[in-house]
Amino acid sequence: MALLEIVTLPNPILRRKARKVTDFGPKLQQLIDDMVETMREAPGVGLAAPQVNVPLRVITVEFGDEEDETVPPKLYTVVNPEITRLSKETVAGVEGCLSIPNIFGEVERAVQATIKGQNRRGQPVKIKARGWLARIFQHEIDHLNGVLFVDKATRLWQQQEAPEAEEAAAPV
Ligand code: NI
Repeated sequence: MALLEIVTLPNPILRRKARKVTDFGPKLQQLIDDMVETMREAPGVGLAAPQVNVPLRVITVEFGDEEDETVPPKLYTVVNPEITRLSKETVAGVEGCLSIPNIFGEVERAVQATIKGQNRRGQPVKIKARGWLARIFQHEIDHLNGVLFVDKATRLWQQQEAPEAEEAAAPV
């Protein structure tokens, strides 16, 4: 495994639509292992392949239970993820992004999201997420379409300017 470099704005790859994965061979397996290591080291709770300069539809997410800190974080790897359902109910939350250092913003997201895609072996997976986990999936899947949280934020601030930034989830 190897740590990958996380690209930041204004790198144009962050604005491109990523390509569908069709080859689940050793190169993809290596990419996923490296993304997980890079996400953990950052540290972050989610990472999309374009953030490590790879234009493929791959995301990794690792997040624990919001209510119970004793539950260990669960790791999700989703290849070719698609959101198949979003709740009408939305909630505002503070987001950051590993590719946009020191900027935070408040973003309105659906409370619940259903995600379909494939696991690292190409088998179909379906995930029903809610709360912060649903937010992370929405943020990461946006990355695959060249969309960044700053596009959707109702307000933005630099880390040092606003004490409420301390409440932000780990960057994704
Ligand atoms: Ni991000």
